[in-house]
Amino acid sequence: MSKPVLDATAGPRMMWFDPADSRAVYVDERSETVTLCDGRTVTIEPDVQADFRSLPFPDATFHRVVFDPPHMERVGKTSWTRAKYGALFPTWRDDLAAGFEECFRVLKPGGTLIFKWNEYQIPVREVLACTPHKPLYGHRSGKQSKTHWIAFLKEVAE
Ligand SMILES: C[S@@+](CC[C@H](N)C(=O)[O-])C[C@H]1O[C@@H](n2cnc3c(N)ncnc32)[C@H](O)[C@@H]1O
Repeated sequence: MSKPVLDATAGPRMMWFDPADSRAVYVDERSETVTLCDGRTVTIEPDVQADFRSLPFPDATFHRVVFDPPHMERVGKTSWTRAKYGALFPTWRDDLAAGFEECFRVLKPGGTLIFKWNEYQIPVREVLACTPHKPLYGHRSGKQSKTHWIAFLKEVAE
């Protein structure tokens, strides 16, 4: 049976209650284990190594997609933050626009996209401007309420 959920930016799967949850397909552009100078390691082991700007799935495949792209442009090359979360390129507006478009393409009509963003460096409104889709509702979390969880719906054609 095909899996109902796509995690388009799975990274180390820290958001998952069960990081081996078999209901999802885990995608990331990286497949690696990074060891920091203090000996800590972070493992990124996607089911499918792919770019969220060009997802290797047919249209309307998933009931739910979660999209949690890197949220920092300025981050140390050898930092723990980069190892865990990756980093944005100067082309991040185009990259995120293409990512949103792909997430909506692979969603079934009536399916939900959950988008996560931390506005430590870039305000969430600038990121929402990368997609023409209208968010439904959201929630802020974290000590400074900078992490946004935002739900979108893929419209059902009349
Ligand atoms: C914020 S982290 C995701 C953290 C993850 N949600 C978790 O629970 O641990 C963003 C991830 O997106 C990945 N990424 C960055 N650019 C990507 C791209 N173009 N295509 C696919 N994955 C990408 C990074 O490698 C990184 O692992």
